[in-house]
Amino acid sequence: MTTDLEQLEAQALADLSSADDAASLETWRVKYIGSKGLVKGAMAGMKDVPKEQKPAFGKRANEIKKSVEAAFEARQGALADVGPAGPKLDVTEPGVAESFGVGRRHILTRVRDELVGVFGRMGFEVAEGPELEDDEHNFIKLNIPPEHPARDPIDNFYVDDPATTTTPRMLRSQTSTVQIRVMEDAVAKGWGPPIKVIAPGRVYRPDTVDATHSFMFHQIEGLCIDRGVTMVDLKTTLLQFARAYFGADAEIRLRPSFFPFTEPSAELDMKISLRPDEPPKWIEIGGCGMVDPAVLEACKLDPEEWGGFAFGFGIERIAMGRYGIPDIRWLFENDLRFLEQL
Ligand code: DAH
Repeated sequence: MTTDLEQLEAQALADLSSADDAASLETWRVKYIGSKGLVKGAMAGMKDVPKEQKPAFGKRANEIKKSVEAAFEARQGALADVGPAGPKLDVTEPGVAESFGVGRRHILTRVRDELVGVFGRMGFEVAEGPELEDDEHNFIKLNIPPEHPARDPIDNFYVDDPATTTTPRMLRSQTSTVQIRVMEDAVAKGWGPPIKVIAPGRVYRPDTVDATHSFMFHQIEGLCIDRGVTMVDLKTTLLQFARAYFGADAEIRLRPSFFPFTEPSAELDMKISLRPDEPPKWIEIGGCGMVDPAVLEACKLDPEEWGGFAFGFGIERIAMGRYGIPDIRWLFENDLRFLEQL
């Protein structure tokens, strides 16, 4: 009787070694160790075994059951390590380069880096400030009083209710906030003035989106604080920038204007040609002026000793002017058909 058991074991193990996928392994399991399988069946044969042989038969049957079950588990584990049948992934195979486009920096990033590069060569260092600001840095210390229309909640992204919060937080509406941050830092840490910084970054205003407006855009702010700084320094800086960036024949024009944080203030235009075949024309680039004494005082700088100039440009406007882009929305839609042309 035990020879039948030996044969069953040998057969089971031989079959198992030729099962090489999940399906054939399952077929094997059902055939041999399933609830109606051959191993169960052989054990049930115990009843026909002569009484004196029963203990030896039972012992051997149990051993065989254990051994084929263990072999099954080992085989299952080995097959799982190998992974599914079918085409194998060869990670050493060279990629198909044609199917990937060559990436590049976004046009706004490139223009920002170019501007930072030009001003960097003129001695301006990059400064940063938070996009989530408070009204102290966005308005109060920039000499924009509480009743000023620019502070209207309808024109700003307040995060806290300005009616009930002492220093409400907001998404900054201008990079001029960084002027305050830098002057405060210079005074607190004692590293300046002189201060000569450029601060590029995002700003937010709840404008209705159209070809020339977006609720988020980019500005680049400049600030220079030293002894004896005059409007001549401002105008020279702007002209040198225009020539370095737009070409040796670029012209600039300052139109009298008003900003609470500068006195006097001016609107800055640059005469540039958008394309080689087009004559140059005047494009509005941003605002500028001499830093208002009230702003210096708010940052604990003595206006009798220190003075300076500031300016703020729209980066989109410069990019659109330089590359002849008619619609600001194209800069944010991430349409590759547009981006790939720049
Ligand atoms: N912050 C102004 C704006 O967003 C732009 C500006 C004007 C910045 C004059 C300046 C400045 O630094 O001096 O409209």
